[in-house]
Amino acid sequence: MKGLKLRIDSIFNSSESRDEKLQKICQLLRNEIPHYDWVGFYFNNGEKPELKLGPYSGAPTDHVIIPFGKGICGQVAVTDKTFVVPDVMVEDNYLSCSIQTKSEIVVPIFKDCENIGQIDIDSHQIDPFTENDVELLKYVCEKVSKFY
Ligand code: SME
Repeated sequence: MKGLKLRIDSIFNSSESRDEKLQKICQLLRNEIPHYDWVGFYFNNGEKPELKLGPYSGAPTDHVIIPFGKGICGQVAVTDKTFVVPDVMVEDNYLSCSIQTKSEIVVPIFKDCENIGQIDIDSHQIDPFTENDVELLKYVCEKVSKFY
């Protein structure tokens, strides 16, 4: 975990553009963590009450725009709370990207106490996420908020 955080730090400290950094973070997390099968960022779409897909790593998704309140991501935009879904089959308010996805975690990104977006992870495993994932993803989100 410490080695991974150092690699995360070096991406954020590089001179690349914001989107290049976010893209590399997605790739790094997906490559290094076996239960991360899709990793992506969503950000608030200007003043509209919706999220817009940012950089991601994994299969293309139809959910490029997600209205606030819809799906796991849309709910996190409203509640401001990390949402761990051990089994997506039991969620009513869920937007399916792939039939392979079994579980999901979404962690909000705060800038000056305002929820500006989120990191979203899909997994092909049931119930794989632990406190370690929450801690790592909060670390990433705090870094994102510093240069956003
Ligand atoms: N499953 C998400 C939609 C985004 S995809 O996972 C990439 C949701 O329910 O909000």
